[in-house]
This record gives sequence, C-alpha cells and structure tokens, in this order.
Amino acid sequence: MIKQALISGAKSDEWYTPVEVVRTMLDVYPPKNGDRVLMPFDTDKSNFVKVITKEYDGNAVYGITDFMTNIYDFDYLITNPPYSNKDEVIARCIESGKPCVLVLPIDALGGVQRHKLYSKTNISVYVPTKRIKFISENGEHKKSPANHSVIMMINAPKTEIIFEYQKEKIT
Ligand SMILES: C[S@@+](CC[C@H](N)C(=O)[O-])C[C@H]1O[C@@H](n2cnc3c(N)ncnc32)[C@H](O)[C@@H]1O
Repeated sequence: MIKQALISGAKSDEWYTPVEVVRTMLDVYPPKNGDRVLMPFDTDKSNFVKVITKEYDGNAVYGITDFMTNIYDFDYLITNPPYSNKDEVIARCIESGKPCVLVLPIDALGGVQRHKLYSKTNISVYVPTKRIKFISENGEHKKSPANHSVIMMINAPKTEIIFEYQKEKIT
C-alpha cells in the first residue's frame, strides 16, 4: 500500500511545462542581462532549457539532481519543481536569497508552515486566468486539469499579486 502510494507520488511529478507558460514566466519575471540561470529540475527535454539556453543564457545550468544538497552559484532560477517536494524546494529557494521563479499549484499559497517561510522574504504571485494544461511524458496535454496554478517569484523586489488581466500594464 505504502509502496504504491510512493510510486504514484513520484509519477505525479512527471508533468512538463508548455512553452507558452515558460514564455509567460519570462515575460512577467524576466532575468537580468547576464544573469547566470539555474534550472534545477530540468533536462534537455524541458521547454525552460530550450528557451533559456537559446535566448537568455547559453551557459545555464540544468540536468542536475542535487539542488537540495549542493550549493550552486546562480543569479536567477526558473523551473517547475516536483510537487511532491515543493515545500522543501520553496525553503531552499528562499534560503538562496536569489530570485526564483516557480510554477506551483494554487494551494501552495496557503499553509501555516509555508506562511512562516513566505514571511521571511518578498513573494510576487502571478495568477493565470486559465488552468495550465501540463504535458505528460508521452507528449499529450492534460485535458481537464483539476486545479489552477500560480507563478511565483520568491525573493522578489516586493510582495504583490498580479492577475493575468493586469499583465498588459506591466509588459
Ligand atoms: C513537474 S516536473 C517538471 C519538469 C520540467 N521542470 C518542466 O517544467 O518541464 C518535475 C521534474 O523534476 C524531476 N525531479 C524530481 N526530483 C528531482 C531531483 N531531486 N533532482 C532533479 N530533478 C528531480 C522529476 O523527474 C520531474 O521531471
């Protein structure tokens, strides 16, 4: 029983981010010129890697498996992390002190422990109007996603919430 739960938990992490969402994240929370970019939960299959290495940082770091235990020197982090470990990832991002842009389930906005973490820094949240149709391992878009997602910049210049309908004003 427990083993089954663990297996399905890990499987639920294998959802990939559509390129339009990667572009929205970069539009709303762009890296600065010359930033060293880290994508800690991405391989060369990831749309983050495809866009960043071509258009932002040819030397960006990705394909690692030890973000939680190793110290990386970076200026800007962007990724869709494994949701089964999202709280540990959020804590690690806060600890880094660097701008970290994550796509997360909307539920990640609440929680006693999370608020303890969030209160240590500034968090900017961007709320897309529609649910994100993440891509499965076999390349199909999720048909009817059950939950909304948010895009969050951890260690942001200020704490704020931005709805998609306000985006024109900021781009
Ligand atoms: C939600 S998926 C997103 C994949 C990719 N970032 C994207 O957005 O297309 C999270 C990924 O993190 C990977 N992952 C889980 N634990 C990891 C770890 N400790 N180090 C590196 N990658 C890990 C999973 O295999 C999975 O591919």
